[in-house]
Amino acid sequence: MANKSTNPRWLALKAILLVVQRGRSLDDALATVLGTLKGVDERDLSLSRALAYGVCRWYFALKPVVNGYLRKPFKKKDLDLEAILLLGLYQLAIMKVEPHAAVNETVQLPQWQNKGWAKGLVNAVLRGLIRDEVNMSTGFDEKSYPEWLQHKIKLDWPEQTESILGAGNRLAPMVLRVDLRQISMAKCIKDLEQQGILGHAHGVVETALVLDKPCNITAVAGFQSGLLSVQDGATQLAAGLLDCQPGMRVLDACAAPGGKTAHILQATDELDLVAVDQDHNRLKLIDENLTRTGRQAKLVCGDAASPADWHDGKLFDRILADVPCSASGVIRRHPDIKLLRRASDIEGLVSQQRRILTALWDLLEPGGKLLYSTCSIFKDENERQIDWFVQNRDNCTVIGPNSVQWGEQRPWGRQILPGSENMDGFYYACLQKVDTGASRGR
Ligand SMILES: C[S@@+](CC[C@H](N)C(=O)[O-])C[C@H]1O[C@@H](n2cnc3c(N)ncnc32)[C@H](O)[C@@H]1O
Repeated sequence: MANKSTNPRWLALKAILLVVQRGRSLDDALATVLGTLKGVDERDLSLSRALAYGVCRWYFALKPVVNGYLRKPFKKKDLDLEAILLLGLYQLAIMKVEPHAAVNETVQLPQWQNKGWAKGLVNAVLRGLIRDEVNMSTGFDEKSYPEWLQHKIKLDWPEQTESILGAGNRLAPMVLRVDLRQISMAKCIKDLEQQGILGHAHGVVETALVLDKPCNITAVAGFQSGLLSVQDGATQLAAGLLDCQPGMRVLDACAAPGGKTAHILQATDELDLVAVDQDHNRLKLIDENLTRTGRQAKLVCGDAASPADWHDGKLFDRILADVPCSASGVIRRHPDIKLLRRASDIEGLVSQQRRILTALWDLLEPGGKLLYSTCSIFKDENERQIDWFVQNRDNCTVIGPNSVQWGEQRPWGRQILPGSENMDGFYYACLQKVDTGASRGR
């Protein structure tokens, strides 16, 4: 019998169950399952990841098909068997694995789950799927989303629903951020080519280089020195929109893992930057990012909504509020959001964003600018949030983004929908504090 502990399908099943049964994020689940393995072929690891991502991406479409082949649905204690069948169906109907291989490899999973009694059932269902030539390559985008998410997207974006749902199911490209102050885009593309890595300039986002295929970035020359970083094009827009000038005092609130922090510091010299995040472990990731890119900032573990606990009293010229959100714009990179996010989460997120935005506004110098951003496509978290904020303040004006070639102009701010210019879904609004001439804080 094959070795269970390194079997790609078994490892994928373990990761899927951590998401479905324990509510863990897929990245976290895969790190737990694959992170400590030694001597496993890189192709097997890739297959495990592809299977786990694929089942999460198509979970809501696969589930009713599988259940149609059962006399009665599985009991809660046997949902691992359902996950095995989803894994089988995904291989057959979407990944197009050769049927014999898919069945032979998948029927051994019940035994490894100590449920050898279910081998016959799994075998029968998979053979039924093959017999009926179940094909799910087209027309399943909508069904692959939970109903509440379909509904919310339709409400907010009735005309763009189909393209949003489709874009959320397409694989996202690996995108690099190039430090253009150290190397030109053309030279960078050439240097990568010499390492066998092909890619092209993004076209709309000046610093972004889109790779033809993902690569192991840690082995690429230029990564360890900070010349290259991995970052979607949409998020690379933040540093420019923040409009920093040398010598400014900048607050990056909700900063971890620090992709934007490093970019802001690479883009402008001599910034006095404070990066805040409430998650101690994630703060370490900012430190790693800054060390790699050779930049410095003051790192603070704290709640952005309670600055009294960490703020030294000096106001900031620029504030980036990259607030926690539903992440509904990045489903193509994190399909587990479909399983983990609930409709009821949105209200809490909106309140949290309001608390953070309100608290940060008091830290802004008159005349200073605050960039509000989310990786969400929900209007409640974006343009309606800014509408609420502006209507309740007489010292706030929305100044952008304007005159840009990306995204959709909204009543307040600008929205990038997923897949537009091959970017993640993202929202930006630039706010300026009106200088009323009142006494300054420093
Ligand atoms: C969208 S991520 C930020 C991504 C980051 N700006 C970047 O570009 O790498 C949101 C971050 O907000 C942090 N966070 C959530 N609530 C917070 C709060 N109340 N105060 C500070 N940080 C918070 C989370 O720990 C998470 O790291």
